Amino acid sequence: MIHIQHILLLCFLLDNFHLIICNNNNNTDRDILLSFKSQLTDPNNALSSWRQDSNHCTWYGVNCSKLGERVQSLTLLGLSLSGTLPPQLGQLHNLQSLDFSVNNLTGEIPSTFGNLISLENLSLKRNKFIGEIPIELGNLHNLSRLQLSVNNFTGKFPTSIFFNLSSLVFLSLTQNNLSGELPQNFGNTLPNLTILALAINRFEGVIPNSISNSSHLQIIDLANNRFHGPIPLFNNLKNLTQLRLGNNFLTSTTSLNLKFFDSLRNSSQLQILKVNGNNLTGELPNSVAYLSGNLQQFCVSNNQLNGSIPKGINKFQNLTSFAFEQNYFTGELPIELGTLKKLEQLWIYQNRLFGEIPDIFGNFTNLYELEIRNNQFSGRIPASIGQCKKLSYLDMGMNKLVGVIPTEIFQLSGLTTLYLRGNSLNGSLPPELKMDQLEFMIVSDNKLSGNIPKIEVNGLKVLQMARNKFSGSIPNSLGDLASLETLDLSSNNLTGPIPESLEELKYMVTLNLSFNKLEGEVPMNGVFMNLSQVDLQGNKKICGLSNQVMHKLGVTLCVAGKKNKRNSLLPIILPIIGATVLLVSILCLMWMLYSFKMEKKDDKTSFSSTPLKGLPQNISYGDIKLATNNFSATNLVGRGGFGSVYKGVFNISTSESQTTTLAVKVFDQKQSKASQSFSAECETLKNVRHRNLVKVITSCSSTDHKGDDFKALVMHFIPNGNLEMSLYPEDLESGSLLTLLQRLNIAIDVASAMDYLHHDCDPPIVHCDLKPLNVLLDEDMVAHVADFGLARFLSQNASEKHSSTLELNGSIGYIAPEYGLGGKASTRGDVYSFGILLLEMFIAKKPTDEIFKEGLNMNNFVSEMDAKQLLNIVDQRLINHYEYSTHIFSSDSHRGESGDISYSDGSNTYWTDKAKECIASAMRIGLSCVAYHPKDRWTMREALSKLHVIKQSVLGL
Ligand SMILES: *[C@@H]1O[C@H](CO)[C@@H](O)[C@H](O)[C@H]1NC(C)=O
Ligand SMILES: *[C@@H]1O[C@H](CO)[C@@H](O)[C@H](O)[C@H]1NC(C)=O
Ligand SMILES: *[C@@H]1O[C@H](CO)[C@@H](O)[C@H](O)[C@H]1NC(C)=O
Ligand SMILES: *[C@@H]1O[C@H](CO)[C@@H](O)[C@H](O)[C@H]1NC(C)=O
Repeated sequence: MIHIQHILLLCFLLDNFHLIICNNNNNTDRDILLSFKSQLTDPNNALSSWRQDSNHCTWYGVNCSKLGERVQSLTLLGLSLSGTLPPQLGQLHNLQSLDFSVNNLTGEIPSTFGNLISLENLSLKRNKFIGEIPIELGNLHNLSRLQLSVNNFTGKFPTSIFFNLSSLVFLSLTQNNLSGELPQNFGNTLPNLTILALAINRFEGVIPNSISNSSHLQIIDLANNRFHGPIPLFNNLKNLTQLRLGNNFLTSTTSLNLKFFDSLRNSSQLQILKVNGNNLTGELPNSVAYLSGNLQQFCVSNNQLNGSIPKGINKFQNLTSFAFEQNYFTGELPIELGTLKKLEQLWIYQNRLFGEIPDIFGNFTNLYELEIRNNQFSGRIPASIGQCKKLSYLDMGMNKLVGVIPTEIFQLSGLTTLYLRGNSLNGSLPPELKMDQLEFMIVSDNKLSGNIPKIEVNGLKVLQMARNKFSGSIPNSLGDLASLETLDLSSNNLTGPIPESLEELKYMVTLNLSFNKLEGEVPMNGVFMNLSQVDLQGNKKICGLSNQVMHKLGVTLCVAGKKNKRNSLLPIILPIIGATVLLVSILCLMWMLYSFKMEKKDDKTSFSSTPLKGLPQNISYGDIKLATNNFSATNLVGRGGFGSVYKGVFNISTSESQTTTLAVKVFDQKQSKASQSFSAECETLKNVRHRNLVKVITSCSSTDHKGDDFKALVMHFIPNGNLEMSLYPEDLESGSLLTLLQRLNIAIDVASAMDYLHHDCDPPIVHCDLKPLNVLLDEDMVAHVADFGLARFLSQNASEKHSSTLELNGSIGYIAPEYGLGGKASTRGDVYSFGILLLEMFIAKKPTDEIFKEGLNMNNFVSEMDAKQLLNIVDQRLINHYEYSTHIFSSDSHRGESGDISYSDGSNTYWTDKAKECIASAMRIGLSCVAYHPKDRWTMREALSKLHVIKQSVLGL
């Protein structure tokens, strides 16, 4: 009651103006505040003192005038208040200062704020206000501080504010979405402005030169806007301490640069000068040296400045940050820099600086970041960098530095980043690294050698040492780097196993160990479970224990019985589906049973080895459909476990009339569920090139007309049939019998192809299904091995599906015995198949022939015979018939060899004995390839060289 009487008395006593206010307003300041409180959320209960039954002048954050209990200032700073500003606040007519900074307030500034004509300070920074700045704020003629920074105000900032608020001292609109231009006479209207902060908005237009008429300006921050036009001049700003114009579209030339720096001559307090991220061009004048000796930050980075770094920099003894990076500066790094004892950041990366890095680091006791990457610095890394005890960030990558990395660098205990990538550094790293703070160590693309150090750095996140000459094994201790996210040791000479300890690295995102000489099993857990993050290619001696590993990494299953032995240095083989060995065996069997029987239907279309110029790089489903006559039965040449093979006649794009005949292997998606890596694997196959392999020309991976996945391989079409047909012609009269030399040549062709797959491909490829049906013969009787590597495209589903219906039928034939006894597919398995094939070529009996009784396979059958018996079972056509023996050497002229009969003495006996010797030798090679234990078998390379010896002696006959 007392206060109402008080107010009434006041109203009565005071002048007209105040009478009007009192009469037109039912609300007292107290009611306004209580109403404001009622719509606020006050999570900390900071406004608990705001109660009906207490004097509002005693409330938290409220200050009243001495007379009349009118609210003069309202300061609710950092209370996590949320809610909006009610228009009634505009009735606090005596309010001089309103500070709601650092809350969660939202909504717009009510236009009634234009009534707060006593307001000197309006601070709403760091809230969530939105909407446009009300033009009514232009009425606040007493306003000296307007702080609206870090909100979400939008729209054009009303220029009337610049014209009307001549008392403004502090204007901060930083970090909103405000736009608009600064008026030409901007500086003339705001004579008392000391802080102008418009950064991080969308202000545009030219920065008016009149700005320097606001002669009290101390801080100008226009960074991160869209100002364009020439870099402005700032004469007269004696008190300027900070000039921040970065990240606009300002332009300059050499002469404008001169004017600009001259305009700052009188700004003797200047501490921060940033014009980075504009379109400044030309050279910097040496008058840069006239800038204030108080300069602490000098930043011209990310422009198009050229010329050399200006002289006189030693004047700036207070400089902490020298940022000239990302320009076109040339010349050498000024030695003067070395005098700047307070320097904390030296950024000159991405320029065209050259010469040796001067030995200037001895005084840089505060240097924190040294970034000089992407220049053309040569010579050695100065050891004096070791004096920069506070160095955290050392980046000298992508230069031409040579020599060793000074060991002093590895003693910088505060280093967080060591980036030396892309130089020609050599020598080795210290055996132990203990840099407590190190997070990034990137030394890739150098010539570093020696072992990978023992690294004891808890926080290391990225370790990249790729493309060096590191050798030795990967230390187990890398698994202790618990924070490691990226490990790249690719393309070195690392040997030994992949440490299982790497499984422990929980945060690992990228692991690249490719192109080393690593051996043994791929660990299965941790990062190795998500193999899209792992690259192990180009390690010939690693193998996987799971399907997933095999598929994704293109490595083979490890041999059973050697699990967990790190030194099971198995040759890499092609991925075969199925963890169990039985499945592998079934797989190979399946290949046999589902092989191309249809090749016999070959119509002997003469195959012209048309060059494939003009064939589109990517053959589409449509192209294939057209070429195979809509996959017609007449074009079908074979059907296998994984799909069908069609003959396709493709138009060569350059001319409608020109065609080429190719074989198209269409994968049955239901059966083979071709792996996602189809394309990648096809890429591998496309790169597999050997005259004795059917060439894979391209792959097609798309969708068919029904929208189903369609995957096909396009290969050379070999029209002359296969070895099976030649060995077992249906009609002896029409079938051309193979001569001894032809057989040897075919054996050599096949052996060459297999030798290439096993020993020259990276990773090696295992065929898994070598048999006469897969040896195609062209019109020159040159053999081409087909279907190599196609088992890659098998899926587990496919093999399981078939395994249930597959009848074994005792036709083990070409499959190595270990496949049925717990071994896994390997090159040695291929060698076995080759041995059987070689024996078959001379015995001319299929391994499924009745002659091989139960329990007796061709291998046992042959190996149990002595030499004489052996010749008894050899294809008698080769030995007995003279007419055949003349025939033997008659058809080899295409090979350019002296295949003519050279038994010049006319003695058939002589020839027959020699021929028998050769045949026996060839069969002994076969026997050496079919040894029961894989390790006892020859390699393809050994077999090949022996076959060549035999051929030489046949040619010598
Ligand atoms: C003031 O209050 C009276 C009665 O309580 C009401 O009739 C009048 O409309 C109010 N005036 C204003 C301006 O709110
Ligand atoms: C604002 O509110 C959000 C939740 O909406 C909260 O996480 C945040 O801490 C608040 N900020 C302040 C300054 O109170
Ligand atoms: C700012 O406001 C606009 C709408 O005016 C909105 O789309 C945007 O998300 C807001 N931004 C933030 C950071 O709140
Ligand atoms: C500028 O500041 C001075 C000193 O504080 C003051 O006297 C003068 O009135 C101010 N000018 C304006 C236009 O507010």
